[in-house]
Formats: sequence, structure tokens, C-alpha cells
Amino acid sequence: MSTSETDPRPKLLYSAYINVPALVTSVAPPAAAPRSADPGEWPWAQYAPSQAAGRAVDAAEVDPRELPVGADGWAHDEVLFITVHQTFEVWFRHALFELDDMVRRVGQALAAGGVSISGLRHSRYAWRGEAVPPKIGDPGQLERLPELSKLVAELDSDESGAAYAAWIRELPVAGSFPGDDAAASPQLLAALAPELDMCAERVGRAAHIVSTATLAYPILQRMTPSSFLEFRQRLDPASGFGSSQFRELEIFSGQRERHLASFVTEDASGAIRDRELHDLVAHHTGSVAAASECSRRASKGGGGAGVLRAALPDAEFALVRGRMLGLTLRDLVDALLLAGTSGTGARALADRVAAANFRDLFETALRRGRAGNDHAGDERGVWESVGAQLTHLESIAATAVLAGDPSFGAGALDGAARAAVARLLDACLALDGAIMDWRRAHMQFVEVMIGGRPGTGGGGLPYLRATLSPQRPDWEVRSFPALWASRSLITAPRH
Ligand code: HEM
Repeated sequence: MSTSETDPRPKLLYSAYINVPALVTSVAPPAAAPRSADPGEWPWAQYAPSQAAGRAVDAAEVDPRELPVGADGWAHDEVLFITVHQTFEVWFRHALFELDDMVRRVGQALAAGGVSISGLRHSRYAWRGEAVPPKIGDPGQLERLPELSKLVAELDSDESGAAYAAWIRELPVAGSFPGDDAAASPQLLAALAPELDMCAERVGRAAHIVSTATLAYPILQRMTPSSFLEFRQRLDPASGFGSSQFRELEIFSGQRERHLASFVTEDASGAIRDRELHDLVAHHTGSVAAASECSRRASKGGGGAGVLRAALPDAEFALVRGRMLGLTLRDLVDALLLAGTSGTGARALADRVAAANFRDLFETALRRGRAGNDHAGDERGVWESVGAQLTHLESIAATAVLAGDPSFGAGALDGAARAAVARLLDACLALDGAIMDWRRAHMQFVEVMIGGRPGTGGGGLPYLRATLSPQRPDWEVRSFPALWASRSLITAPRH
């Protein structure tokens, strides 16, 4: 007697386990005409008499093998166009699933360790609460940075070094380092330590998913620009701009600032109509007045309702809004970095990293025979960009992790946990890189398809270029600016 005859369970078919019927129907073009389209011109109307009779067609009734392709039906390449978009959405959904599960598990671990996850929210990488940070040369600052102070003294006494010492004195420094008076945050680190491997794996997976999904652009590029034009007017004014899952992914990974001005949080009379978001914008921009200005800009963006609001159905807008208010990966990573270096160790670390970098830069200038001779001003730019990191302890902390500095998380993280932090940072950088690669691939693909024509969402190439623009601050266009900055700060170990 075969096992199947004795097994009382119903036979599970591959098709039911993988949910093939749902997938097969999901790659069908939408059966019902969108509200803005004329149902008479919607190919499905001629195909499905039930639709013509006014009954909405259930997706399950669609057999894509019988799609009306050709004259009066779907343009052949429109089916490819829709399928490729749908596969992107399936991958975006899975990336979000991995990251959501990670944050849920982190939340549980923190709660068990007596740490509130809400305390981690809203990294302030871009803004430290100091409108005009003090300069290193201001009275009292150098005394608190002994390594830098030693270097400045050496440069002052060197004929070709004095100009560099003057530059250093002009650079900004954080007036107070987070946790100057506090000990490191051992509870946070201890609660996170067992979860770090899982976090690195989940973020790495999401990065791989986004990179793999991006490979679908060459498939869609098999469609010629003229065959795209055959059906393009049918999708107007819909646009990928309305992909709420892409929005969720970019915000969830850390690009919240990019969208601060996408939400109308006050009505025309200045009364606040979304208190939570308004407070969030004020937190990031540094003032309530700046939050009001953001809201005003948003209301001009899209016929009084904000471009993002107009592009999304209510339920999806609510999800995007939730991502703005919720914990992002940048929040989590920055909290981890700050916890690993808080206390008086933070200032010492910043001091060491800055001094090592400036010494390196000076020695390079000497080797090249350029010391004190920065006619083009580019050398000074490099010194300034290193100096700027002195107001971002997250970058300094990430540098310490990458350099294997045992002072990171001292007392709370062992070597294995520190290595897991390094893996997590690498995975985050990979995710950020994957999102940027997605943007570049999409932008180049769009140029091939429609050149400089306006997009159906009213943007086009100038908008897409601006999403990656080096002119914009890196905390707007990158999920993990501190991790990118740390790559400029690593120096070779000195023996
Ligand atoms: C022929 C194919 C495509 C063309 C011509 C095109 C064109 C454009 C244009 C011009 C924009 C800027 C907004 C606008 O003016 O509409 C845009 C945005 C966008 N598109 Fe596409 N796109 C295509 C395919 C895709 C695909 C396959 C996806 C995958 C999901 C996608 C996702 C997006 C997203 C997420 C945005 C918003 C980007 C952002 O705001 O940073 N697009 N697209």
C-alpha cells in the first residue's frame, strides 16, 4: 500500500502551496477599467462581457493565456510592462517583509531587556540642535581634544603646516557629544547583541532582493520606445511615482528627510491637521516654523494636497505615513552606533579619528610636494569634509567598528558581537547601494524609453536626476550617510 493511500491528510499540490492561481492571475493586466479611463476603450471590456454588463470582474476569473492581445485589445508589450511592474512589487513586498520581521524581533528583544524601542526613533544625523556649531579653534575646544591639539601644535611649528593648523581651527565640532556625561548604554547593546546576526542577515537579504529585482529593467527594455508609445496614453496620469511600496522601502531604510516636505500637516489657516507628522517635521528641521514652511511647500506641490498624497490611494498613503512615523533602519543603526560610543569615550574617539585623518592628509600633501600650496582649493575641501564629520558621531563610531576598535561597545559587546555589528553596517551599505543602483538603472531606462519627455506623473528626467543629485545633502538622498562618511575616515593602523 502506498503512503498516499494511508496518509489521511489531503494531498498538497505544488500549485496550492505556491499559490500559483493567485500568481497567474496577478500577472494579468487589471480587469476593470481605472476610474479615469473610458471603459469602452479598455481592452478588457470587449473581452469580458460580464464587465460590459456592469459587473466587476474578479481577478480570479482572468485567464491571462486568453488575453485580448492585438488590434482593439492589449498592446502586446503592455502585458510585459504590467508583468515587470508586478514582479517589482512582489520583490518590494518581500524586502519589506524581511525588514518588518527584523524590527519586530528587535522590538521584542529590547522590551525583554527593558529598553523602549520608541526611544530609538528619529535619528537626528542631519541636525544636532546646534544652528551654529562651535569651531575647533574656539576657546576651550582644543583642550578637550588632546590628540588634535598635539597635531595642531606640530603643524604650527612646521613651516608648511601652519596653514593646515589654521584650517583645523576653523572646522566645526559638536559642542557636546551625545552622552558626554553618561556611561555607555549597556542595556541597549546587551539587548541588541543576540539579534545582530539576524539583523545583518535580514538587511543583507533585502539588499540582494532589490539588486536582483533591478535586473528586470533589461527585460522591459526589450520593448521598443515606439511600442511603449502605443499604449502610454492609457496609463496617464498613473506613474511609478505612485508605487507606495517603493516609498515605504526608501523611507523605512532611512530616507525620511527626503519626504518631509511631501506632507501637508497644516491647513490653509495654519491650524495643525496632522499633529504627529507636524512634530516629526519640526524634530527633523529643528523648529516648528520650519515645519510650517515644509507644509506650505507641500500644499503648493500638487493642487493643494501634496504630490505624494495625490498619487496614492488612502490606504497606501496611510502605510507611507506610518513609515515616516515609525522606526527606520537608520534610526536603529544610528542608535546602535551612538550607544556603542556614548559616554566620555565618544569625544576621545572623535579626537583620535580626526587627528589620524588630518595627519594622514598632511603627510600625503608633503609626499606630493604640495603642502601649503592649495591653489585650486580642492585640498581644503577634503579637510573640510573630514572635519564636518566631527559633528556626526555616528560616522566616527562606524569608523571605529570598521577599524575593529575595541573601545566600541566596550564592556557590553564581545569581539563576535562587534564583528556582527560590522556585518550589519556592511549590509546596510549594500541596501543603500542597491536602492541607488535601482534609481540609476530606472533613470537610464527611462531615458532610453522616453528621453526628455515629461513623465506621466508630471516629473520626468529632471525629477529622477534630482533624486540622486550630489547637490542635495547626503542625508536626504542616502539611507545611511554616516556609513558612507566612515569610508572616508578609515586610516591604516599605526604600529
Ligand atoms: C516604460 C517604463 C517606465 C517609464 C517611461 C517610467 C518613467 C518614470 C518617470 C518619468 C518617473 C518620474 C515621475 C513621473 O514623471 O512620472 C518615474 C518614477 C518612478 N518610477 Fe518609473 N518608469 C517606467 C518603469 C518603471 C518600473 C518598471 C518601475 C518599477 C516599479 C518604476 C517605478 C518608478 C518609481 C518607484 C518612481 C518614483 C521614483 C522616485 O520618486 O524616486 N518605473 N518613472
